[in-house]
Amino acid sequence: MHINPYLFILPRTPAPIVWNYKDHIQYELELDYSLRLSQLINNPDLFDSRNNIDIQLLNAGILSISKQDSIEWGWDELSKIYHIGTQNIPCEHIPHNIDEWSRQYLDHCSEVLAKPAPCAGRAIIDATSRIALPTATAPSHDKLTDALTRRKTCRSFTGRALSLDDVSTLLYLSFGYLQERDNAQDGIAEGLDARRSSPSGGGLNACECFLLAQHIDGLEPGVYAYHPAEHVLTRVNAWPQAPLGQLLGGQHFINNLPLGLFITARFDRLWWKYEHSRAYRMAFVEAGHLSQSFQLIATALGLNTWLTGAFTDDQVEALLSIEGTAEQPLFFVGCGESDGQAMCQEIQDLLRGPQT
Ligand SMILES: Cc1cc2nc3c(=O)[nH]c(=O)nc-3n(C[C@H](O)[C@H](O)[C@H](O)COP(=O)(O)O)c2cc1C
Repeated sequence: MHINPYLFILPRTPAPIVWNYKDHIQYELELDYSLRLSQLINNPDLFDSRNNIDIQLLNAGILSISKQDSIEWGWDELSKIYHIGTQNIPCEHIPHNIDEWSRQYLDHCSEVLAKPAPCAGRAIIDATSRIALPTATAPSHDKLTDALTRRKTCRSFTGRALSLDDVSTLLYLSFGYLQERDNAQDGIAEGLDARRSSPSGGGLNACECFLLAQHIDGLEPGVYAYHPAEHVLTRVNAWPQAPLGQLLGGQHFINNLPLGLFITARFDRLWWKYEHSRAYRMAFVEAGHLSQSFQLIATALGLNTWLTGAFTDDQVEALLSIEGTAEQPLFFVGCGESDGQAMCQEIQDLLRGPQT
């Protein structure tokens, strides 16, 4: 008999909680159950099929007959619990098409707006303490200002193919190791000296990306790994059979997105240098920097962008062929030609109501 490796125990009074964080199930254990579980943790061979408590612990998945493989996870238990505990969150219903998604989305917005909103912004208690700032003046015809002010999340794409040249520029400037930053004289330790357009925690470049190529001229549709040092792609998988939106929380309005990137983190690389759970936070901060850089570059190329963290981790890991490894998907960004609408046509139609 084996103890499920994905449990933690909260020592609450009067009864401890056993939390199966992988399957998102919690049990409150009465004293005789927690005493028996302690005995079985100490020696799983004490399992007795005539003991009613043992059978209940087995049926609850707290014990298992076969040894469950725990994923390869560097060393840090706290971040492992958080990461796996927030993976594959059960979704009551993933919409199967754009109409279902639109109705579900608007219902959700109505539910949220029916609750009192937390106060927006930071309150200014003492009006006399305000320090007025000069009017912001952006340099005219400045490309960065232009990209910053034009970047916008769009949910209506035309599906037009991207050129391989644009894809190369996007990848190099967002995730590539910049030849322009090859600076031996900077005094940076060898092995930590690769530089991107975004900052990276400890210079580790722990985040990586996979390209989801749907409509790119000269590139077969499929999933590709991007290699930032060599600036090359290698094919990992065919294009998924289900529409892209099905993979991304049922958000079917991006089914025709020509290009997407999954941003992943190599947790083992972070912990190699930073042996503390806090390193886990840095993976998300780094992914955010990379996501914004990607969006600004895409905007500067005249494209529109979209992003999401809504996906079922297991499905994405399988698509990227990284299941059970210390590399985990964190975020998705994509871009393409768009009519510039923040909302898809179906939502706009629903908001407009039936036309008479
Ligand atoms: C962490 C994060 C997650 C997001 N997830 C989604 C998403 O799942 N679907 C979506 O359509 N937009 C998503 N967005 C986009 C936001 O809705 C959008 O940024 C916000 O409405 C502000 O609009 P703007 O990006 O045009 O300025 C996400 C943005 C962030 C930063």
